[in-house]
Amino acid sequence: MILIDTGDLTLCHHQGSRQQSLFIAIRDKITQGYWPKNSKLPSTRHLAQILDVSRNTIIATYDQLVAEGYIRSQAGSGFYVAATLPDHYLTTTRSEDSFKQPTIKQQINTTNNAFAPGVPDLVAFPRKKWQRLYQQQFDRTQFLGCNDLQGEWEFREVLTHYLKTSRSVDVTADRIISTSGAQQALIMAIMASTQPNDIVLVENPGYAQMRKVVNLCNVKIAQLSVTPFDGINLQQLSKTKAKAIYITPSNQYPLGTTLNISQRIQLLKWASQHNVTIIEDDYDSEFQYAHRPYPSLQGLAAQTNIKVNIIYIGTFSKVMCNSIRLGYMVVPQALLPRYLEIKDALSGETQAQLQLAMAEFIHDGHLLRHIRKMRRLYQAKHQQMLQSIKDGFGQQWEVISQAAGLHITVRWHQNVCEKQFCEEAFKHNIIVRPLSYYELPNTIRNWQGIVLGFGNTSIDDIPVLIDNLKTCFNHLLTENRHDEYF
Ligand SMILES: Cc1ncc(COP(=O)(O)O)c(C=O)c1O
Repeated sequence: MILIDTGDLTLCHHQGSRQQSLFIAIRDKITQGYWPKNSKLPSTRHLAQILDVSRNTIIATYDQLVAEGYIRSQAGSGFYVAATLPDHYLTTTRSEDSFKQPTIKQQINTTNNAFAPGVPDLVAFPRKKWQRLYQQQFDRTQFLGCNDLQGEWEFREVLTHYLKTSRSVDVTADRIISTSGAQQALIMAIMASTQPNDIVLVENPGYAQMRKVVNLCNVKIAQLSVTPFDGINLQQLSKTKAKAIYITPSNQYPLGTTLNISQRIQLLKWASQHNVTIIEDDYDSEFQYAHRPYPSLQGLAAQTNIKVNIIYIGTFSKVMCNSIRLGYMVVPQALLPRYLEIKDALSGETQAQLQLAMAEFIHDGHLLRHIRKMRRLYQAKHQQMLQSIKDGFGQQWEVISQAAGLHITVRWHQNVCEKQFCEEAFKHNIIVRPLSYYELPNTIRNWQGIVLGFGNTSIDDIPVLIDNLKTCFNHLLTENRHDEYF
């Protein structure tokens, strides 16, 4: 049931008596479709107060509207717009069609379906603890107004400890800025470190959302080619005159390679010599299954005393859930004012209650416990993925990503187009992404590949789903039997 807000309902005083004027005003609201069928009218007492007329006038008007069939009275409940309106007034200004609620096609959200990359286990989200902590923040009246643009101090303080211990980040609370996910941090980093037509080096294949940012800011892209297993060949760096470089050094997205310590130092030295800003996206570093994670580039620069501008970016999208929209960045002290200026213009503050709840969540040890639990779960899912892929595809598919994160990248050389394969999989409600989705235009490859996210897929479903993919693959293989290799 919709409650009607009286909004701009006013009495038109030159239209006869007050009752007559109110009758016309309400009738027009109804016949012109502003007050929908079956919605509840304000009580007579309330409307009398708002319009500053006697309650008797309202009662008499409502009675007249009932008598003429525009509204109905429901005993003990109030007055409602009639479901069927009298014919003779339907032509006032709007046609009958305007009474119909617009038919909004229900969009079925498939973005989190089985194997959708980038989605963590949504069922395992610690909803009870989170709900309680989040709700409690609304009792803290002082945070209901305007808050700190940079981020809540409690949040930044506790994050400092977390980033130092888990990722060796060189950080103090006064250099952290809270953001709406990593996405906001990425656009702020590009806006602060480049001018239109400057060059930014981005990984190819790489994070498609970053390319959108670069294009939006009219910055030119230079590619940093990434190859399966070998990762980024740093020899490429010497050739470009970039202002900034965007990189996912701990789990390259989506090929899943890592920069080792000596590569990290080489990159830092190059950036320092050429005055290039490094944008380090550490989006899922919490989930490494095969080896201990390397320290962040940002932390390594401080440890090795290499002077370079690094913007360190992290997010709670993977360790908690995507819709939480909370991320952070650590920026050099001298650049802080510029970053805050950009944040102010883009979005203003990040929601205080979200940060405060997260501060308590981290402080009380829930985050570390949750990460440990999820690491075990994802590791088991990763194992299951490898096993099922091996069982289903044998030598046909090769897993090329490392044991980390929430996705697996595979490639093949058979005559099955990756895009066609993804479309076929979608018919089975499975979302897998072609590697070309992550690539710059005109990238040449002599193999086909896809990215499979396993974060939000239940471990028990994995064998069946891989089996479905096998069916899709074989189907296309048979169809393409006589075609030339793409
Ligand atoms: C490389 C990379 N960075 C960052 C993110 C997270 O972005 P956000 O915090 O805006 O959800 C993702 C999510 O999939 C990602 O793949």
